[in-house]
Amino acid sequence: MRLLKLLILFITIQVSAQQGGMWIPSLLEGMNEQEMTNLGSKLTAKDIYDVNNSSLKDAIGHFNGGCTTEIISGKGLILTNHHCGFSQIQSHSSLENDYLKDGFWAMNLEEELPNEGLFVEFIVSIEDVTTQVLSGITDTMTEKEKQSSIDKNSNAIQKQTKTEAWQATKVKSFYQGNQYFLFVTERFEDIRLVGAPPSSIGKFGSDTDNWVFPRHTGDFSLFRIYADENNHPAKYSKTNKPYKPKHHLPVSLDGIEEGDFTLVFGFPGRTNEYLPSVAIEHITQEYNPSNIAIREAALKVIDAKMKSSDATRIKYASKQARIANAWKKWIGENLGIEKSNAVVNRKTFENNYAKALKTKKLDKKYGHILPEFDRLYGDFSKINIKRRNFIEVFLVTNELMQMTFRAYQMETAAKTNPNSFENAKAALVSRLKGIHKNYDVQVDKDVYKAVMPLYSNNVDISIYDKTAFTDLKSALQLLEGSPKEVFKKLNKDVAYKYAKPLIEEFINTIDAEFQKKNTSISALQKQYMKALMEALPNARYFPDANSTLRVTYGQVRGYSPRDAVYYQPVSYLDGIMEKYIAGDYEFDVPKKLRDLHASKDYGQYADSNGKVPVCFLGTNHTTGGNSGSPAIDAQGNLIGLNFDRVWEGTMSDMNYDPEICRNIMVDLRYILFIVDKYAGATHLIDEMTLVHPKKK
Ligand code: ARG
Ligand code: ASP
Repeated sequence: MRLLKLLILFITIQVSAQQGGMWIPSLLEGMNEQEMTNLGSKLTAKDIYDVNNSSLKDAIGHFNGGCTTEIISGKGLILTNHHCGFSQIQSHSSLENDYLKDGFWAMNLEEELPNEGLFVEFIVSIEDVTTQVLSGITDTMTEKEKQSSIDKNSNAIQKQTKTEAWQATKVKSFYQGNQYFLFVTERFEDIRLVGAPPSSIGKFGSDTDNWVFPRHTGDFSLFRIYADENNHPAKYSKTNKPYKPKHHLPVSLDGIEEGDFTLVFGFPGRTNEYLPSVAIEHITQEYNPSNIAIREAALKVIDAKMKSSDATRIKYASKQARIANAWKKWIGENLGIEKSNAVVNRKTFENNYAKALKTKKLDKKYGHILPEFDRLYGDFSKINIKRRNFIEVFLVTNELMQMTFRAYQMETAAKTNPNSFENAKAALVSRLKGIHKNYDVQVDKDVYKAVMPLYSNNVDISIYDKTAFTDLKSALQLLEGSPKEVFKKLNKDVAYKYAKPLIEEFINTIDAEFQKKNTSISALQKQYMKALMEALPNARYFPDANSTLRVTYGQVRGYSPRDAVYYQPVSYLDGIMEKYIAGDYEFDVPKKLRDLHASKDYGQYADSNGKVPVCFLGTNHTTGGNSGSPAIDAQGNLIGLNFDRVWEGTMSDMNYDPEICRNIMVDLRYILFIVDKYAGATHLIDEMTLVHPKKK
């Protein structure tokens, strides 16, 4: 009996230990393959990544350098999140054709809308080039010398690699500079908008529901990749044809249940999983709170103004969403770190690591690292916060300060290199126009009043009455004339005069000091990574996210956010009706959807319980950039679309814990239901490959 108990304990530890991590797709053979099998996968490493044959990776694209997208038909149809396609949807919208509000559906290829600048990039191959990149690097070199050799070697490799004319190469650092990989990529530039649900579906629940479960957001949009007559990437042309991909994901109609295997394949942006405890303490106790405070002060103003005026609400919707997204994430991150006891646990881990160093006689070589981290962070924390606070005030929340900052960049660029004046001016003009498109001086003035005292004692509201920047016409007039005249006018502007010393202090002192200290920390972090791998060689080490293609796997699982509360892993259309508030900015439901619910007109998209599933939870280790990533079942079929994480689980960027970290996906059947039953875009369903993997 006791043995059985021990065995069960061992198995649970084993199972939970086998999740988490964002793995390099070309290195899955062996451990990862085994772990996936243990979790229920039927896929081999080669099914996921193969250079010589088509594999899942051929269907996974990097959407505009930020989000992820996947090919879901033989005609280049791709799926991503509504929030990833948001600015494209917005750019085609007008008062007459409000696609954000009403949705958009192209009923044939001719109606699909081109998007200037939008691109999708695929990975052709991944190759370890560590030896070449690190050749010639010696311990006696300074960090700067090392980096410049690394850059030189990397550039040489990129140039030497033979590729097709439409391909590109890049070398990326992994494990904090302990390993390097070469990527050959293909970039498609003719990407057209195919479909988007109304925001009341695609952004249902908005900020109130952001980062939380139960969730009911249909966060998806559809695009199509076009290629030239040879099926190769090309710039937009009327004569381009829908791309015929090497692979597209079949879509499963059989859905999911708790415990099912899930694989999320995409481009996670940035994580910091190997921080010392002192860094986690700094981030959660000092850094996050100061950023949260600034955003909170700004949001208080913006939210109130948005509630009192529809015009302001529309103007500030996207800005507010951006500010609120990270604000809410940081609060959740702190909650999760506390709830999981992360700092104490990491200290325990560090003790074990220090013991292992001794046992392995590595303490002479690496024993200095942890104490050195303590010293460096002690010295770094103040400047890190000061620098970030500047960014929060000058570049995130207050728009007048942002305009002065951009103007300062123009002035310095043009003074350093007089030939660049016209270019720098054009960049500034486009920035100013961008800001003024959605600018309300009263809102911005109140934001200034709220946030500036959190950065500086030098607060002067009167600058708003006399500056030229708060009006687009007068701001552009500042930029008319010869460079000399422009600089003179600029330096007479009260807001510019006020901001310039603060900006100069930031650039010359604050940021300079930050960069110096940050370089030392990064160098030590690189040593620490190496030391960990030598001292504790049997642990699972995956590289931190760096916007390259990764695989993460887990299972469909509910979770317990607090005592006596358990969240089921699947939400349903019924829950949308529970949340429905007529006319509400966040929780309105389109009439057509209410009618479909009332008549239970669900087609082939209901679960075995007769309900339409909307979102579900998994234990996949994801981060920003994984939005739009496919959730793939044990056989390689599409079952979900990743778009978010649960609140406390956002700490997974520093401390993934399978107990409380969950990613949130839209159930593919809900997407099909909306495309088919709500939008009537049945031609899109027809071009997909629908499968029944669970029905034999
Ligand atoms: N929290 C998700 C992610 O970081 C979704 C963000 C979009 N939704 C929103 N309400 N802002 O990016
Ligand atoms: N919502 C995020 C994204 O946009 C995903 C996440 O942070 O979980 O990539």
